Amino acid sequence: MKVLIGCEYSGRVRQAFRNAGHDAWSCDLLESEDDSPYHIVGDLINLLSDGWDLAIFHPPCTHLAVSGSRWFKNKAKEQADALVFVQTLMDAPIPRIALENPISVISSCIRKPDQIIQPWQYGTGETKATCLWLKGLPKLTPTNIVEGREARVHKMPPGPNRWKERSRTYIGVAQAMADQWGRLQTISQ
Ligand SMILES: C[S@@+](CC[C@H](N)C(=O)[O-])C[C@H]1O[C@@H](n2cnc3c(N)ncnc32)[C@H](O)[C@@H]1O
Repeated sequence: MKVLIGCEYSGRVRQAFRNAGHDAWSCDLLESEDDSPYHIVGDLINLLSDGWDLAIFHPPCTHLAVSGSRWFKNKAKEQADALVFVQTLMDAPIPRIALENPISVISSCIRKPDQIIQPWQYGTGETKATCLWLKGLPKLTPTNIVEGREARVHKMPPGPNRWKERSRTYIGVAQAMADQWGRLQTISQ
């Protein structure tokens, strides 16, 4: 399958799909952390019509996450732009799409998510509610429910790299996406 992982600098989902034999590419405005030749630095919007079978998008939640709602009144324009970006990704001409974000205004402004997953359902004993908006994809099935409900991401000290530490996709979730969605048939558009 030709797979696009949009807004991914970590390479975790891209690598899980490549390990399973797919022609998977990541794209971000940033360089990839693993220096992969299968990473495109640039604006994801320019790639959406390039004939992908499946896309997984991780757009920024800075202006969308409900956890930051106390700042919403000061950033109406940023939030409107972020919602247009999300809607453009959801409407991309790609037959199977998953878009991931925390609990956010996407639910009230665009539509409710199809599924909310937690890292502890995929092998990491932490909590971080992650919403998935799906097109042409089944819900992800938990792969390894573990003990432990630590809210690690909320306890991280402030610092310039905190957002990066907080936003890398969990490896167990990346693996589940590749295992479960990578085995689906391709659909012609
Ligand atoms: C919340 S992070 C997602 C990180 C991801 N879960 C990972 O494991 O790498 C959002 C990312 O979106 C990227 N981004 C924002 N606008 C973009 C655009 N127009 N095209 C490509 N990437 C973009 C940012 O640079 C940032 O790295």
